[in-house]
Amino acid sequence: MPAKVRTAVFPVAGRGTRFLPATKAVPKELLPIVDRPLIQYAVEEAVEAGATRLVFITHSSKRAIEDHFDMDPELERALAESGKTELLDSLRGLLPKEASCVYIRQGEPLGLGHAVLCALPAVGDEPFFVHLPDDLIRADTGCLAQMAAEFAGHGDSVIAVEEVPREKTGSYGIVAVDDELRLQQIVEKPAPDQAPSTLAVVGRYLLTPGVFAKLQTTGRGAGGEIQLTDAIADLLVDQTVRAYRFAGTRYDCGNKLGYVQANIDYALADPELAAGLRGLPGT
Ligand code: UTP
Repeated sequence: MPAKVRTAVFPVAGRGTRFLPATKAVPKELLPIVDRPLIQYAVEEAVEAGATRLVFITHSSKRAIEDHFDMDPELERALAESGKTELLDSLRGLLPKEASCVYIRQGEPLGLGHAVLCALPAVGDEPFFVHLPDDLIRADTGCLAQMAAEFAGHGDSVIAVEEVPREKTGSYGIVAVDDELRLQQIVEKPAPDQAPSTLAVVGRYLLTPGVFAKLQTTGRGAGGEIQLTDAIADLLVDQTVRAYRFAGTRYDCGNKLGYVQANIDYALADPELAAGLRGLPGT
């Protein structure tokens, strides 16, 4: 029986340049979808999947993420004194009691692969999740929980994928798979006429620790960065890696259109906000 996955890695050290100037002083991961920051949705999805050790690969410009998950006794006292118990409970519930947070500085943003390698001391020799918070996935069962259930059946690494239009392959890692969704090939950001398929990797991975040895020898790839995709391609040489078509809707909140779309859809899913948006009384 495969080991239980108890660690989730959140690479949050990227600069978020597509959202400047909003992300000059505010980390991209703290941009809200309605009233909760992206990183909060990310942590809740990981906790739902069974993760209790939350590892953030971070940067000096992202200190506010630590503050978000830290206690704020002064604010809690003020809310308690003014009888705002609902808000107080929502603050106290940001992290479950059994969860612990580890923050590791990446130093230089050398790429997603390098960010994941920085998590090695905290992860050790166990399978682990990688969650990119700007890929927000709305689903009845969280995407990572779906992947953990899949992993429990075979113990192979699992990578979430979805179909994208061929003209978009240059923005994604693209995989070629066999009939049972076992990866045959994975390529970072191929041009549409070079892409082996239109099946794109999205920001959810469940990886066996073997990927760390590959990351240690992976050189710089697309964009001059150390790419997680390249290490997974190396892993394919000696391990099975499976693609997983998750159930749910993905919003690419790393770009403006996806971010705005997510806000609209999440607001419309809230009866009070939906009524207000549609011009009905109720707000
Ligand atoms: P992105 O490609 O979205 O880059 O990184 P970015 O810097 O966050 O945003 P833009 O493109 O400048 O607008 C994908 C994920 O990998 C993390 C990012 O924080 C994001 O979660 N990442 C990327 C790192 O943690 N370190 C890196 O060196 C690169």
